[in-house]
Amino acid sequence: MKNLFLLLAVIFSFLNSAEPAVANKRDIKPKDLYNKCITCHGKQAEKKALGKSDIIANWDAAKIENALKGYKAGLRNKHGMGGVMKGQVISLSDEEIKKLSVYISKFAKNSKK
Ligand code: HEC
Repeated sequence: MKNLFLLLAVIFSFLNSAEPAVANKRDIKPKDLYNKCITCHGKQAEKKALGKSDIIANWDAAKIENALKGYKAGLRNKHGMGGVMKGQVISLSDEEIKKLSVYISKFAKNSKK
């Protein structure tokens, strides 16, 4: 019986220690997530993507998050190019979208002259 407890304790501590490693692997930095947006939106989100989108550098995080979730759900199509954006965000989790939105919302402050 004692051995069984010991075995369980060992297995449990093993599981516990494995968890952070997995979490870290999935924890992609917002900066890395934004990398693929740069081509169209610009380094500081200062461009009209493909000459169509609004400039999002001055948007707050909630507004960006809302738009991205709309694209992910296939519901948003403001300039007739929602499909392009759906392809960009479809693979992102809601949590990643949130982090990315906060990251982008900071560009405006950085770029103020
Ligand atoms: C291939 C070019 C391209 C890439 C890459 C791209 N976008 Fe876009 N983005 C667009 C276009 C075009 C629109 C306008 C879509 C529409 O018609 O609503 C847009 C719209 C947006 C909007 C809403 C702006 C508005 O006008 O309503 C946000 C926010 C946004 N993109 C964020 C991102 C983020 C974040 C990424 C990276 C994960 C990204 N985009 C990658 C082309 C791109």
